[in-house]
Parts: sequence; C-alpha cells; structure tokens
Amino acid sequence: MTHDEQLLALLREHEGRSISGAALADRLGVSRTTVWNHVEALRNEGYVIDGATHRGYRLVSAPDRMLPDEIERVLRTRWLGRTLWCYRETNSTNDIALARAAEGAPEGAVILAEAQRRGRGRFHRRWLSPPGADILASIILRPTLHPRLVSQLVILAAVAAADALRSLHGLDAHIKWPNDVTVGDRKIAGILAELSAEAEQTNYVVIGIGLNVNVSRAQLPKAIRATATSVRIELGRAASRIELLAELLARLEPWYARWRRDGFAPVKARWTELSSSLGRRVEMRSGKAAVTGLVADLDDDGAITLRLDSGIIRTIASGDMTIVG
Ligand code: BTN
Repeated sequence: MTHDEQLLALLREHEGRSISGAALADRLGVSRTTVWNHVEALRNEGYVIDGATHRGYRLVSAPDRMLPDEIERVLRTRWLGRTLWCYRETNSTNDIALARAAEGAPEGAVILAEAQRRGRGRFHRRWLSPPGADILASIILRPTLHPRLVSQLVILAAVAAADALRSLHGLDAHIKWPNDVTVGDRKIAGILAELSAEAEQTNYVVIGIGLNVNVSRAQLPKAIRATATSVRIELGRAASRIELLAELLARLEPWYARWRRDGFAPVKARWTELSSSLGRRVEMRSGKAAVTGLVADLDDDGAITLRLDSGIIRTIASGDMTIVG
C-alpha cells in the first residue's frame, strides 16, 4: 500500500469521526507535514476531507471515479472484475482488452476508462461519452464457444445490464435487438463484442459496454439526442457509476455461470421477457436494403426471425432495427 492508500484506510477506519494529524502521522510513521501532503493528494483525486492538521481530518466523501480501490470496495463478485485496469483516457477500452487478452490476461479481467479518444460502436460508428460521466468497460471472457455463437454473450451482457438498471434504479429497461439496452425506447447502453478465434473455437471474447450514467441531455451529441438517454436523465439526478458497475458485474457473473452450465435457453428466456422488439413490427436495414416484418423469435446464434409482410420467414443475423409498430 502507498502512503495515500494507508491514509485513506485510516480515515475509513474512523468513518464519520475525525482523527488527529498527530495520530495519523504516528500510524503512518511520517511527519505531520507529510500527512498534510497526502491529504492534499487525496483531495486532488476528488476525496472530500474535512479539517486541518490541528483539528484532525475526517473523510466526508469519496469521488465517483473509476479507481480500483473504490471499485473493489463495492464489488460483490467472485472472479469478475477482480483484475481491474482503470485508465483516465485511452483510445478504446476494447483495444486495451484485446491486447491484454492476447498477452494472457485472465478471464474476468475488466478494463475501464474515464474517457475514450476513439470509442467505437457497431458498424464502425463512434461511441462518444464526456470524460468522467459514464461507464466505459471492456470485459475479457474465455468461453468454450463456437465463434458463430458469440452473440449469445452479447445478449447475456445486455440482459445483465438491463437487470442491473432495473434492480439498482428501478428503471424500466428493455433490450432492443440485438444489443441495445433501452429505457422508454431510448438507448441507454450499447454492447460491442470483439473476439479472437480459430475456425471452430474462440480464444477470447471482449465484451465492450458503454452505459450512459451521468451524461446530461445537453451533453449528448445532437444526432442522438432524441433517441438516447442516461440514468441521470431518467432519474433527474446524478447516479454513482461505481455502484452501477458493481451491480452490472454482480448480475453478469451468475448469468455467465448459468450459461456455461445450462446453455443459452435461460438467457434467451430472460431476453424474451426484456425484449422490446419481440412481437413488434420492425424495419430491418442493412446497408441500403430494408425489410419490414414482425419479430417472431430469436435464434440460438442471436439472429432474429422476422415474419415479412409477404408471409415469408426470414432469419436476419445483423442490421439496424427500427420499431415501426
Ligand atoms: C453500440 O451500441 O454500437 C456498441 C457500443 C459499445 C461502446 C463501448 S464503450 C466501452 C467499449 N470500448 C469501445 O470502444 N466500445 C465499447
């Protein structure tokens, strides 16, 4: 532990009470001036610490920053997120996760960032998020899985994200095929899976999740202002990113265990409950081609079964969906 971490641990031991500068100096084996320097360093990190050397110090609040220590305090998982890398800024957390996975990072490792310079979404779109506002996470998984079935994990992650938003914030979250988590038909989270695979077997999968937590309506890019939302917009107040992340990982871990044990059927059953598209009329667009029909089912490889207006049943593996009725 660094001195900053030791100091924080001591302040936490005295939760709600002050501890004198002299006592802190004694416990850390440093001078009072050094204690003061460390207090200042923590304040610069965003910790609110009351007091001064002669009055004693009291921890008032911790920052909602993606700091490993803060996250570990609220994490309830066994293995997911137990290896954590947090970045202030990076090109894309998926890039880091892919690189770390190639170097042998363990299953369940999570990469987080406060900001991304080149966050990406599906179809090479950009994923924009103001620094420090949202959850930008990439999770490394090493499933025994045919690469064709990787969308099962995307759906599993969407189920976990929707359930986390429901349980922690009571939001009426749904899933719009294939990977959008929505509230009131507005997108609140997106998932981008990328993988390394042989012909028949997956080496590793990176599940990238972008979840709008504290981005305000004004901060949303104009082009998506009418179709996107955030926890803050829905609740009318800011929310803790760390708590939501912990909830998301706490949901994801058992879903993944269940999927490994029982296959896709239970995930699919929950997806069906959460789906905002099943039974709805949608327009599916892929490039310039578009078809309209009723969403009849979801396949085991994540594709969608569409009953076209002509009565023909068509399976569609990817594309952009707009709900039209
Ligand atoms: C989509 O809806 O198109 C998927 C968006 C996925 C965005 C996340 S943010 C964290 C991770 N890093 C990226 O560059 N993309 C994913």
